[in-house]
Amino acid sequence: MPIIYAINKIIPIDTIIEVFDSSGINRPTGDMKRIESMFKAADLTVSAWDGDQLVGIARSLTDFCYCCYLSDLAVRKEYQHEGIGKELVRRTRLEIGPQSMLLLLAAPSAVAYYPKLGMEKMDRAFIFNRETD
Ligand SMILES: CC(C)(COP(=O)(O)OP(=O)(O)OC[C@H]1O[C@@H](n2cnc3c(N)ncnc32)[C@H](O)[C@@H]1OP(=O)(O)O)[C@@H](O)C(=O)NCCC(=O)NCCS
Repeated sequence: MPIIYAINKIIPIDTIIEVFDSSGINRPTGDMKRIESMFKAADLTVSAWDGDQLVGIARSLTDFCYCCYLSDLAVRKEYQHEGIGKELVRRTRLEIGPQSMLLLLAAPSAVAYYPKLGMEKMDRAFIFNRETD
């Protein structure tokens, strides 16, 4: 069955948590309310579906005309390395349009991934990190 992609589809929070946990991404999935707030505040969510099963998700905060922060990119373990992550990023870029840059912070295990999508590694990025987890 082909993978179908959806924009801003409402997804039950426990389904998102299941995909996050399956992917290996480090997110506060033990705190359902926080994950719910993260998705309520998102401007753009691209999701990947195998039938009615959620297999991947990209959550971004953006103004659609200048910048976009891609905060969470996760693909269910059994579906990794099939091009789904790449397609989620491609579709995110299509939605934000050519005037928006796309920024993200790579997890240590994904540092080698983003150059494969054509992204440039910056040495001018700065962060005030979270004070608590
Ligand atoms: C990182 C992740 C989103 C990639 O999604 P994916 O669907 O598995 O990746 P793709 O199939 O689109 O991979 C595209 C290319 O990157 C490579 N790649 C995939 N994961 C990689 C990784 N972690 N590091 C380096 N290269 C990777 C693939 O082999 C592929 O290369 P190819 O085009 O030469 O064959 C997914 O593996 C995942 O959910 N990982 C756990 C969570 C995570 O780390 N998220 C990112 C947080 S910043």
